[in-house]
Amino acid sequence: MMEATLSRKITVVGAGYVGMSTAQKCAEKNLATTVTLIDVVEGRPQGIALDLNQAAAIEGYTSEVVGTNDPADTRDSDLVIVTAGRPRKPGMSRSDLLEVNGRVMESVATYVREGSPDAVVIVVTNPLDVMVRLMQAKLGFPSRRVIGMAGVLDSARFSWFLAKATETSVKDVDAMVLGAHGDSMVPLPRACTVNGVPASELVDAPTLDALVDRTRHGGAEIVNLLKTGSAFYAPASAAVAMAASVLNDERRLLPCACYLNGQYGVEGVYTGVPAILGRGGVERIVEVALDTQARIQMQKTIGAIQADLDELRKLGLL
Ligand code: 2OP
Repeated sequence: MMEATLSRKITVVGAGYVGMSTAQKCAEKNLATTVTLIDVVEGRPQGIALDLNQAAAIEGYTSEVVGTNDPADTRDSDLVIVTAGRPRKPGMSRSDLLEVNGRVMESVATYVREGSPDAVVIVVTNPLDVMVRLMQAKLGFPSRRVIGMAGVLDSARFSWFLAKATETSVKDVDAMVLGAHGDSMVPLPRACTVNGVPASELVDAPTLDALVDRTRHGGAEIVNLLKTGSAFYAPASAAVAMAASVLNDERRLLPCACYLNGQYGVEGVYTGVPAILGRGGVERIVEVALDTQARIQMQKTIGAIQADLDELRKLGLL
């Protein structure tokens, strides 16, 4: 008997650099039958889709990319990746984007809620921890189906810096960064290993501290270099790794922004924690023991997110 063909649809919202890079990676990995790229700018998603479909003739992928400005074309998506919104400019913090990107979340939620009520939604838009909270509130979906991308990206940055400092392959480096996607993030140097060997045995403490600091400002370092726009390759890779874990039920343990309901002593806030991602979205939030320093940093990071959430409430958005 022939197996039924699995027809899957991913929608990528926002055809900026992160969105187009995300659509490309989804197509190249054949993650879905259809990858729908939607943006408010007329012509841009259609042009990118045509370009990516022509690339398929060379690359050999079978996913088809559909570019559109019409929310109706996103109907029945299995997974939605939200990248829409403004990026930072040099000197801006991610929180400076609260209002403008908050309004974008509101309008995206309206059509995702109606058209794709069973989708898992991955939010990439900054300021991440509050945008994912807002998106979940506006969608009204169970929190396990609305997840924020940031920890995978911040951990990737930490891994790369550590690989360079230890002169080892980045393939062997594992790093874990929790908390907010901002200056208050909580890199866990003790959880860093190179193929099982603790990083502390390969580099001295001041070096490790410097890597932590560089990781905290990893996004700003790229914003300052690019001058217009922010990072997009690694953010797209991170979102697509999460998407693959969900769609293929890989159950990878990845740091993601999840809704905390008592875990880590936190109630009613989204922030970066280790989570197992599978077909249902967040299958489980994993609570790891934190040392005193990490616990203090976690409290600080929650405080920073709460301040942004209060700002959203003042703006009448939440
Ligand atoms: C970054 O860290 C854009 O926030 C994103 O690069």
